[in-house]
Amino acid sequence: MKYEETRVAIVTGAGTGIGLAIAQTLAKSSHAIVVVDINRARAEDLAANLRHSGSSALAIHADLSQRQDAEGIIATTLEQYGHVDVLVNNAGIMDGFTPLLDMDEALLSRVMGVNLEGALWASRAALRAMLERGRGVIVNIASIGGFAGGRAGTAYTVSKHALIGLTRSVAWQYGPQGVRFELHQPWSALLLDDEKVIHESTPIQPLNPALPSWRDTLVLTFRHGGFQGPQETA
Ligand SMILES: NC(=O)c1ccc[n+]([C@@H]2O[C@H](COP(=O)([O-])OP(=O)(O)OC[C@H]3O[C@@H](n4cnc5c(N)ncnc54)[C@H](O)[C@@H]3O)[C@@H](O)[C@H]2O)c1
Repeated sequence: MKYEETRVAIVTGAGTGIGLAIAQTLAKSSHAIVVVDINRARAEDLAANLRHSGSSALAIHADLSQRQDAEGIIATTLEQYGHVDVLVNNAGIMDGFTPLLDMDEALLSRVMGVNLEGALWASRAALRAMLERGRGVIVNIASIGGFAGGRAGTAYTVSKHALIGLTRSVAWQYGPQGVRFELHQPWSALLLDDEKVIHESTPIQPLNPALPSWRDTLVLTFRHGGFQGPQETA
C-alpha cells in the first residue's frame, strides 16, 4: 500500500486562521494533510501550497454542518490514504455575540451544526477507522466560550460547552482502546477570573477506576497570557 507508512491528518476549517496554521505545522512534521473547508478555493490553494513544499495534501470541499459532508471527509480520506491518524475538528463559526432573546432557530442550528455536530459526526466516522488500527488522535478546538459565559453569544457558548462534553465523553468511552482525545482552547488573552473558572471546571477524575488510562487519554491544553496568534496556537 502506497501510504501505509504515511501519517495522515485531517484538519477542518483549514482554509484560514488557526486551522491553516495547524495544517502547515502538521505538514512540517511529515503528515499528509487533508485540508477541509467550506471555502473551496482556500482549501485548494493550501493543498497546492503544501504539495509545492513537498507534502502530500488533498483538498476537500465540505460544509461541516451537514452530516453527510462530515462523514464524507473521513470516507474520502480512507479512499485516498487507507487510514487516518489525526483528526483536528477546528472548523467553527461565531454567533455575532447574539443574546438568547435575539437568537433565532436558524442561528442556533447553524452554529451547533458547524461547531458541535460536524465535529461529532466526523469524530464518529474517524473513530471507527482508528479503533480498527488501535490508535489515533482526535483534537477538538474549543474556546474560552466553552468554560465561561461572557465571551460570545448563547449559541456559540452552548456549542463550545457541548464540544467539551463530547470530548470528555468519548475520551472516557474510547481512550482505553488506544484513541487519544485532546481539547485545545485558543484565546488571545485570558483574565485571571477565566483562569479560575477553567481550573475549577476541569477536574479530570476517572469515572471508572477500572480504566485508569482514561486520565491519560484526555489532554486539556490551555495557553495563558499575552496575544496568541494562529501560529502560536498550532
Ligand atoms: N481566533 C480566536 O481567537 C479563537 C478563540 C477561541 C476559539 N477559536 C476557535 O478556533 C477555531 C478556528 O478559529 P479561527 O479564528 O481560525 O476561525 P476563522 O473564521 O479564521 O476560520 C474558520 C475556517 O473554518 C471554515 N468554515 C466555516 N464554516 C465551515 C463549515 N460549515 N464547514 C467547513 N468549514 C467551515 C471557514 O471557511 C474558515 O476557513 C474555531 O473553532 C473557533 O471557534 C478561535
